[in-house]
Amino acid sequence: HIKVKKICCIGAGYVGGPTCTIIAAKNPDIIVTIVDINQARIDAWNSDNLPISEPGLDEVVKSCRGRNLFFSTDVDKAIHDADLIFVSVNTPTKTKGMGAGYAADLGYVESATRRIAQIARSDKIVVEKSTVPCRTAQNMRYILEANSKAGIRFDILSNPEFLAEGTAVSDLMNPDRVLIGSLKTESGRAAAASLADVYASWVARDQIITMNLWSSELSKLAANALLAQRISSINALSAICEATGADIEEVSYACGLDTRIGPKFLKASVGFGGSCFQKDILNLVYLSESLHLPEVAAYWKQVVDMNEYQKRRFSNRVISSFFNTIYGKKIAILGFAFKKDTSDTRESPAITLVNHFRTEGAQIAIYDPKVQESQIWIDLTEPGVMDDLTEVQKQVSIAKDAYAACDDADAVIICTEWDEFRDTVLDYKLIYDHMKKPAFVFDGRLILNKTRLEDMGFQVGTIGRATSGFTVPKDWE
Ligand code: NAI
Repeated sequence: HIKVKKICCIGAGYVGGPTCTIIAAKNPDIIVTIVDINQARIDAWNSDNLPISEPGLDEVVKSCRGRNLFFSTDVDKAIHDADLIFVSVNTPTKTKGMGAGYAADLGYVESATRRIAQIARSDKIVVEKSTVPCRTAQNMRYILEANSKAGIRFDILSNPEFLAEGTAVSDLMNPDRVLIGSLKTESGRAAAASLADVYASWVARDQIITMNLWSSELSKLAANALLAQRISSINALSAICEATGADIEEVSYACGLDTRIGPKFLKASVGFGGSCFQKDILNLVYLSESLHLPEVAAYWKQVVDMNEYQKRRFSNRVISSFFNTIYGKKIAILGFAFKKDTSDTRESPAITLVNHFRTEGAQIAIYDPKVQESQIWIDLTEPGVMDDLTEVQKQVSIAKDAYAACDDADAVIICTEWDEFRDTVLDYKLIYDHMKKPAFVFDGRLILNKTRLEDMGFQVGTIGRATSGFTVPKDWE
């Protein structure tokens, strides 16, 4: 098998950027060029202000940018020079046409693939890094073979990425496993071995696993569906807790101690977000339907439905605490990113909550430590869905810090579990003193000490715990 000397990564996003940065850092003898059609994004990668925020990423980029790591918009040159190409473009849910709302939009994968076919003058290993439905590699192969110059060979590999935003660098440095799918032909296996060598610079050989292409593609969808299912399961149980006086943190602790279940991903919350879980499950649902497996489709679809229900249940709880009207009330939203340590807001539950509170006529102040103000406006004015910016700004403002957001508010809502919102960091007594009374705080991420805040005078609504004084007599707790 060949030794890879030049790598091109198409797509400088949340996955392509960090992944190929680590590959460059760990393989100083390989030239890695990350390309994108988005000039602003490439400019940001070449500046001190990287387009994505991940703990530890700045240092790694600085250590190899300009040495063997390059960011460029010259897609064609990078394709031409490379012997291995990662396709790491976005695969959002289709918004129109066949499979709208479920199927993955493979338009970006297709156009990147066509570009490779057109430009290539030498053999290439093409690696599917984007999350795609099972059997996409086959389609890429058709496109490559139908459009390329005679005599050029393409080997297609599936190498799904399992990093989580917020911990991308440490996930990449210490992955649980690296998955490489290939055809079982001689050249397929050789291509897989070449890619395995790239990872072997820092990942133990027994953690680099190879399998057939379709298993590899499906494993990525399966892993996300199983993870999201745990969240929806614990969130479904949180509703039972709120109605009975059981405490979801005690329940998940008790269940998590069972080694067959384990403690991870059992934290109840206002709902999961992020660009992947919903999209990948819907993708799996669509795949099941196309395979005429309606029961399988319905089973996985319920994981997404439960998440929608959880967000709606939480915002309804806020509204009912104010005797069913929050018209004109001021609500402080702490956190807009879909989880802590990332500036990514894709599918963030905060967007759903803010939109719901807006339709109820509330005034909303948002604070997030990392999300750009411009991004919040984009998310709240999604074309065709929400009102235009001037309408939104009649009800929504963005605060410079948590204290400003909470000033004169009726309710504070924790939407993202940023450490700086913990009651050991933020001065909730000060916040309480500047709020309207009764002062409510709703903890959508289980980061606050309920008793402590109640002692300050707050009315506290926590996911997975009954509101004190309402459904459960005090002495039951
Ligand atoms: P992203 O939207 O941040 O980045 C994709 C980039 O590809 C964009 O900058 C876009 O301009 C560029 N692009 C699109 N078409 C192009 C073309 N023809 N030529 C050059 N550049 C092009 O997306 P993200 O989050 O990096 O996701 C990429 C893939 O990785 C998706 O399939 C996603 O499902 C998957 N994934 C994402 C994870 C995450 O945490 N975000 C984790 C694991 C997988």
